[in-house]
Amino acid sequence: MLTWHSASLWLVITTLAMAATGSKVLSENVDCGGGSVVGGETCQVPPDQARYDHYRIYNVQFDTEEQIKLFQKLEDESDSLTFIGHAREIGQKLSILVAAHRVADFADLLKTYNIQHRVLTYNFQDKIDSNLREVLPDSIDPSKLDWQHFFHLKTIYAWLDQTAEKYSDRLTVLDMGSSTQNNRILGIKLATNPNNKAIFIEAGIHAREWISPATATYIINELLTSQDAGVQKLARDYNWFVFPSVNPDGYKYTFEHDRMWRKNRQLFGTSRGVDLNRNYPDHWNSTGSSSDPTRYDYAGPSAGSEVETQRLIEFIRSHAKKEQIKTYIALHSYSQMLMFPYGHTKDRVYNYDDLQEFGKKATAAIKAESGRDYVSGSLYETIYPAGGGSMDWAHAELEIPIAYTFELRGPPDSQDLFILPAVQIQPTASEAFTAIRTIVEAAAEKGYYK
Ligand SMILES: *[C@@H]1O[C@H](CO)[C@@H](O)[C@H](O)[C@H]1NC(C)=O
Ligand SMILES: [Zn+2]
Repeated sequence: MLTWHSASLWLVITTLAMAATGSKVLSENVDCGGGSVVGGETCQVPPDQARYDHYRIYNVQFDTEEQIKLFQKLEDESDSLTFIGHAREIGQKLSILVAAHRVADFADLLKTYNIQHRVLTYNFQDKIDSNLREVLPDSIDPSKLDWQHFFHLKTIYAWLDQTAEKYSDRLTVLDMGSSTQNNRILGIKLATNPNNKAIFIEAGIHAREWISPATATYIINELLTSQDAGVQKLARDYNWFVFPSVNPDGYKYTFEHDRMWRKNRQLFGTSRGVDLNRNYPDHWNSTGSSSDPTRYDYAGPSAGSEVETQRLIEFIRSHAKKEQIKTYIALHSYSQMLMFPYGHTKDRVYNYDDLQEFGKKATAAIKAESGRDYVSGSLYETIYPAGGGSMDWAHAELEIPIAYTFELRGPPDSQDLFILPAVQIQPTASEAFTAIRTIVEAAAEKGYYK
C-alpha cells in the first residue's frame, strides 16, 4: 500500500512539475522514450506518430463460407487487424495488416481453420520509414517539385501558385473553400477556349493514397509542358479542372501523425473521420460502408454531412453545366483497376457498353506502355459494392456521362499497400495519363463531346 501511494504521489508531483514548466525537462527516472534514462537532463519527447513496427501483411484466401463468416466476425471484433476490404466471397483474396501483438494469435487462427495464406510483409514500419525518406521537406522551393519524391500539401499548393504564374495565359488557381480544419481545397483550371468541353479530376480523397495527388500534379505538368502533339491537342481541345487534394486535413495527418490514415478529420466523440468517398448523397449508407465512426469506411452521420463533400458538390453543381464538364475522374490506389459506375448496384448504367469499351481500350494502352495489368469494369463488379461514392454521384446527379475511378499501382497483392515507393510515381502517373487520354479520345470518337 505504502509503495503504491508513494509511487502515485511521485507521479502526481512529476506531472504537475512538467505541466507547470510546460517543458521537456524530466526528472530522474523518467524514460525519454528512446530507451535512455536521463537524470535531470532535457531530452527529446518522441513525436505523436503512429508506428507499425513488426506489423505483418497477410494475404488470405477464402475457400468456404465458414471461413468468410469467421473473418467477418474477426473484423467486427478487432481493431488490431486492418482489413483492406471485407470478407465477402469464396475464392476472394484479402490483405490484412496485423498488429505486432496479434501476430501469434492470428497465425494460430489461420492454422486452426486451415486458411490459405501468404505473408507479404514482415515489418510494415520498414516500408513507412523508407517512404518517409522520399518526402522532401516542406521548406523547399516549389520549383523543386518533381515525380521522384512525395510532397507536403504546402509544397503542392505553392507549386500550383507558381505554375499558374508561369502559365498565366492558360492556368488559374481555384479555391473550393476550406476544409473541416481550415485547410484550403485548391486546384487549377487549364483553359484555352471557353467553348471547350471540360474534364474534372479529383485526387487525394483518401489521405494515405499518396500516389493520387502525385499523379494529379503530373497530369497538370504534362498538359502544360509535353512535346507530344497528342497531349498538346488534349490541352487545347478540352478544359481541365484538377484538384490534387480534396481531403487536405487527412493528407496532412498522414505526414504528421499516421501514414495509414484514410478519412477526413471530423471529430465524433472519441474517434475521428468520415470516409469521404462514402459520404456523397447517392445511395448513401446503402452498401459497402459502416455506420461506426471508428471504422475506416464510416459513411458519416448523414448524406453529404462533411465539409469537404459539400465543397466539392457546390463546386461541381455550379460549374458542371456552365463549364460543360463531361468527364469525371477520381484517382485512388491501390489494386490496378479502372472502374465506372455503378458502385452501389450491379445494375448497369445506360452507357455501360461504351464505358466498358473505353475502359478496355485504356487498360490495353497501359499494358502496351508499361506491361502492367489493370482490370476494368463497373466498380460494383470489379472491386466491391460501395454506396455514397463521388463518381456515382457525379454520373447520376450531374449527368456527367464519362466517369471513372482509378485504383493505381500496385497490384492487388501488393506488399506495400498504400506505401508505393517513389521510384514508381513517374511510371504510374504516366500510365494513368495514357489511360485518361485513351478514354477521352475514344469518347470523342463516339460523340460524347459534341
Ligand atoms: C445506415 O445503415 C445501417 C444499416 O442498414 C443502419 O443501421 C443505420 O441506421 C443507417 N444510418 C443512418 C444514419 O441512417
Ligand atoms: Zn481510395
